[in-house]
Formats: sequence, C-alpha cells, structure tokens
Amino acid sequence: GLVNTKEMFAKAVKGGYAIPAFNFNTMEQMQAIVQAAVETKSPVIMQVSKGARNYANGTILRYMAQGAVEYAKELGCANPQIVLHLDHGDSFELCKDCIDNGFSSVMIDGSALPYEDNIALTKKVVEYAHAHDVTVEAELGVLAGVEDEVASEVSHYTKPEEVIDFATRTGCDSLAISIGTSHGAYKFKPEQCTRNAQGKLVPPPLAFDVLHAIEQKLPGFPIVLHGSSSVPQDEVDTINAHGGKLPDAVGIPEEQLREASRSAVCKINIDSDSRLAMTAAIRKYFDEHPEHFDPRQYLKPARENMKKMYMHKIVDVLGSNDKL
Ligand code: G3H
Ligand code: 13P
Ligand code: NA
Ligand code: ZN
Repeated sequence: GLVNTKEMFAKAVKGGYAIPAFNFNTMEQMQAIVQAAVETKSPVIMQVSKGARNYANGTILRYMAQGAVEYAKELGCANPQIVLHLDHGDSFELCKDCIDNGFSSVMIDGSALPYEDNIALTKKVVEYAHAHDVTVEAELGVLAGVEDEVASEVSHYTKPEEVIDFATRTGCDSLAISIGTSHGAYKFKPEQCTRNAQGKLVPPPLAFDVLHAIEQKLPGFPIVLHGSSSVPQDEVDTINAHGGKLPDAVGIPEEQLREASRSAVCKINIDSDSRLAMTAAIRKYFDEHPEHFDPRQYLKPARENMKKMYMHKIVDVLGSNDKL
C-alpha cells in the first residue's frame, strides 16, 4: 500500500538526493507519474492540494493514488514506494479528514500565522497524525506570491534561529522552508532578473546561505522546497508558438535544485512544470490536428510529455532514481 515519508526521507537525506513531490489532478498526470517512477525505480510523492480536491473530488484522488500502487506493480515494480500527501493543508479539520481517509502524509501550512499559532496548529495536527502513522510536513517562512490565498508581495526567508524551537515543539517530520522559491510560472519579476546573451531572464540565486544555516541548526532533519518548478523555456516557447501567451515566465534553474538535492532537502515540489508540459503538448497537437476531437488523441502526447519531464527531474535533477 501507500507509505509515509519517514524512512524515505531518512534515506534521501543520507543518500544526498531528493524525492519528487508531484501534484496531480487528473488521471493522465497520475499515470505519467507512476510510469516515470517505475521506469526510473524512484520513490515518489503524489500530492493533492485543496484545489485538486475541489476540482477532482478527494475520494476519487485517494482511490487513484491507491490504484497507483497497484498500477506500479502491474508495470513490473515489485516494491513501489508511493506516498499520498496533502499539499498545503490549511486547517486541522482538513488534515484530519485526509488522515481519516487514507492519506499517508499531510502538510499543515501555518506559515501565514503568527509564530506561536503556527506551532500550536502544527502540534495539534502532528499529535493526531502520528497516532495514525501519518507523517507531517510543516512550514516556517513565507514564500513570495500567492500561497494559500494569502498574497505576499515579498518572501520572508525562514529564520534559522527559529527552526530548532519549531521542530522540537511541534514534532513535525519535515520542514518546508523559504529560501527564494515561489509558486507558479512567474517566480521572479523581470526587474529582479538579469538577461543572458539570448535575452532570456536569469533569476537571482536561491539563498543557499539560509539553507546551510538551517542545516547546521538541525543536522539531518528533512527539509522541503516548495515552488521548485524550473519553467522549462522549450515548453514555454512551444506554448507561445501555438497561440499561448506566457511572457517572461521564469522558474528555478535546475542546477540549483540539483545542488539543493545533495543537501538535507529531501522533498522537492513540482506542479507548474507538469501544467506547462501538458499545455504545450496539447496546444501543439491542436494546432497540428485541427480535425481531431477525441480527447485520447491529444491527452496521449500530453501524458507522454509529462512522463518525459518527470523522468528528467528524477534522473537529471533530484537523483532519486535506482532507489527502490
Ligand atoms: O501550492 C500550489 C500547488 O501548485 C497547488 O496548486 O492549489 O492550484 O492546486 P493548486
Ligand atoms: P511550482 O508552482 O513551482 O510547481 O510549486 C509547486 C508546489 O510548491 C506545490 O506545493
Ligand atoms: Na537531499
Ligand atoms: Zn507549495
């Protein structure tokens, strides 16, 4: 069945790699994630946001994730390591509902709350979760952009001096930190970036000094990076070449995610890159086959393109391949 993150994270921290956490809302995403994980022999976290539950229905997504384990076995993987994780849980009740309904891991995101309120809420979720063998991700520090319907113009890096107190008092199993990533396909404003020779935006580097300070405070403690899509320029170009309009979309350079993966960062969240891969393939297909209208015709290349992206992340960026 589904597993929690405990052993997986311990191994990843020790081994200097990161587990991919891919969001899913559709069957094609689920299939592509499982195919990619099986072919690369990677553990994988399949995560469901509140928005995903609203879109697809929580029960359906849960059975899809449970089905994913069976599907992985059918594809020849004897020992699939698949986590079903709640992404950005915003209340005890939502976390409890997921814990009561088969999720093996939850995130309680109290990062927008005052420090003591974040601790109290996280601790309450941890107590309930641990009684049910479910692991808990917490968050300290605020990502720039829209997170949990709370808009923040600037990011507030995680304060290294707070992490020991926070981890000890909450008992959380992993900690999402803010070191300059943000959600979506527009992670930096053009004025925050420089331009390379080709005129492409080059974002400012992540705050690795903050990450290293956190690692020194909590040696070996599992760290999570949200907002870690790299917004591949070829996908953006394909989208824009086929009627899309994504000007100046920019993400986190993969080299920096590779570096983070070697540290105590053991979970890297990727959602936007899957959206881009799907949209690019579908836009191209529609442009090239205006006479087609069977969803299977255009969802097939979309699924293949997502699978290719997932495999690339696993093998070339996070290094979680050959770990089963
Ligand atoms: O946290 C952001 C994730 O990409 C989930 O996005 O809330 O639109 O499903 P969503
Ligand atoms: P991206 O928008 O960079 O894919 O981040 C996803 C995420 O953090 C989900 O929680
Ligand atoms: Na790591
Ligand atoms: Zn996130």
